[in-house]
Amino acid sequence: MLNGKNLVLCVTGGISAYKSVYLASKLKKLGANVITVMSKNAVKFVSPLTFKSVTANKVTVEMFDESDFIPHIKLSDLADIVVVAPATANIIAKAACGIADDMISSLLLSVKSPILMVPAMNTNMYQNKIFQDNLDKIVEFGFHTITPAIGELACGTSGIGRFPEIDTVVGKIEKILYKKSPLFSGKKVVITLGGTIEDIDPVRYICNGSSGKMGLAFAEEFILRGAEVSIIAGNVDELALNKFRLKFPDIDGARVRSAKELKEALLKKETFCDVIFMCAAVADYKPAYSENKIKKTDEELNLKLFRTEDVVGGLNKSPNKLYIAFSAESENLIANAYHKLLSKKVDFIIANETVGEKKAIGGDNAEVVLLNRWNDNLFKVEYSDKRSVSIKTLDEIEKIYLANRS
Ligand SMILES: Cc1cc2nc3c(=O)[nH]c(=O)nc-3n(C[C@H](O)[C@H](O)[C@H](O)COP(=O)(O)O)c2cc1C
Repeated sequence: MLNGKNLVLCVTGGISAYKSVYLASKLKKLGANVITVMSKNAVKFVSPLTFKSVTANKVTVEMFDESDFIPHIKLSDLADIVVVAPATANIIAKAACGIADDMISSLLLSVKSPILMVPAMNTNMYQNKIFQDNLDKIVEFGFHTITPAIGELACGTSGIGRFPEIDTVVGKIEKILYKKSPLFSGKKVVITLGGTIEDIDPVRYICNGSSGKMGLAFAEEFILRGAEVSIIAGNVDELALNKFRLKFPDIDGARVRSAKELKEALLKKETFCDVIFMCAAVADYKPAYSENKIKKTDEELNLKLFRTEDVVGGLNKSPNKLYIAFSAESENLIANAYHKLLSKKVDFIIANETVGEKKAIGGDNAEVVLLNRWNDNLFKVEYSDKRSVSIKTLDEIEKIYLANRS
């Protein structure tokens, strides 16, 4: 989504200026046209040549450059977004007061595009009342900001003030630039994802191959569309979950193990959420739990399985909320998905295959069919990566729901 966007990256004189080189590199890889502006003090930390090499663009430091005609206005007209990273206490104070005594501060006053400030500094500086007042002021003026990370700082102490993870900054930029959704913006969305685990004894369990990647792909899309997302995650691909967490560290999340735990967590959230998105692969059956490890013998072992509680069917189903569930089938995909749509009384079913080349479970790609409760139309999203599936499916859900809701 950053492809072709003009991103003006302003680097000010903080110790973490070198991290901005990685940020510039990542943004460039994502397709953005990155134009760097550096303060005179930033140049003491990192050479403009480094940014020029990474971004393949000229770097501006001087306001009064004979070769350029009113450079700050040219850049303000060009920018889709301005990102100040790192943003020193000094540039934030200048922005709060409207001082325009160098290239970056002048640009901040003249630009019409969104501005993201990424403050990074020593904890005492960050917590200083004057700085916090300035930060509040720029937020009031409409600047976007990211809360710095907590951890080790260059000055040898530990606390709040670290430059955030690069992925966190990228996630924030994408969120700012993304089209706001008429349906989901500002709405509370709870998403269940991953598989549940049903314990047999203290060391053994029954699980399934769900990775949670489909739920995470949809969670990302809901976040970018402006929703306030909570996730309830069962057993997932931990690498995928960590990647998601790096990009969106502020997202509310809970971990659950069994179908019972998932249902309890979801029931608690249902009351407060506008959209209930049920992507988890919940176990239909569970064994009777043995407190002791079942001893190995030469005999066959028969496990008797009992029905787990019905998660989707067991919700309160308020008419003011939007309920979206998944149906994973290995045969009669559409007929079974229709049955679920009607019997579970949900608004949408996203049906996907569990067998064959286009199976969705565990992998990075999927093919899905969307069914809705208002008409018999089927909307198919061809086999593609799960992020693309989430975009196309939510576009269609928005269209159908906005046209049909009473
Ligand atoms: C070694 C060193 C590291 C610094 N690191 C930071 C920092 O991380 N954050 C910050 O706000 N200021 C930091 N400063 C102070 C700024 O460099 C100083 O406020 C400067 O005036 C900022 O100028 P600028 O905002 O025009 O780039 C540091 C100064 C020095 C000497």
